[in-house]
Amino acid sequence: MPDVSGWKGATLPRSAKTPRHARQAVRRWLAGSVAAVESNALLVVSELVTNVIQHVPTGVQRDWVKVRLGFADDFVRVEVIDPGTTRSQPRFKPLRQGSTKRRGRGLGLVADLSVRCGTHIAACGDRIVWADLAAGVPDAAQEAIQDIGDSVHARPRMRPLSVRPSQPAGLTAFRSR
Ligand SMILES: Nc1ncnc2c1ncn2[C@@H]1O[C@H](COP(=O)(O)OP(=O)(O)O)[C@@H](O)[C@H]1O
Ligand SMILES: [Mg+2]
Repeated sequence: MPDVSGWKGATLPRSAKTPRHARQAVRRWLAGSVAAVESNALLVVSELVTNVIQHVPTGVQRDWVKVRLGFADDFVRVEVIDPGTTRSQPRFKPLRQGSTKRRGRGLGLVADLSVRCGTHIAACGDRIVWADLAAGVPDAAQEAIQDIGDSVHARPRMRPLSVRPSQPAGLTAFRSR
């Protein structure tokens, strides 16, 4: 996997306002980025955080949602982490053209907006859903990206533009998985 660093993140208390708070955090972290990256990141984080509120049960020590952004040379990774559930698992169904179904579109939209996205469960049981967002136009070369052990949905490669925020100084660097 490409190197992702300069992570920014927050653990948000869970409520009906969490999607809004997540969007506010993402907007702040992406200040100075390419506008398309910011608007895609806001949509993606909204969908992923809303999914946690809708599909992951609450409970003692479960009333939180973590949101993280990581920066690579040509994409931004959006991660949303929840305490996990055995009731369901994220399904990235492709969006059907002309479909008027109201439910089951969120992760299809996320897959559509991202170069790749996926989900896995951490050793501690937390669920991670992530999406890599690039700025650019579709490249002619298409490449299937394989990531054993993770459920990854690959899209055509994008020609990169810089997506790093203008002032990344002072961020803690982590290695990507
Ligand atoms: N964080 C999550 N944990 C467990 N299941 C999830 C999570 N996010 C999504 N899902 C499952 O994936 C399905 C598809 O999600 P989505 O495309 O956003 O549609 P919708 O939220 O409208 O049902 C959901 O219906 C749910 O069963
Ligand atoms: Mg949804």
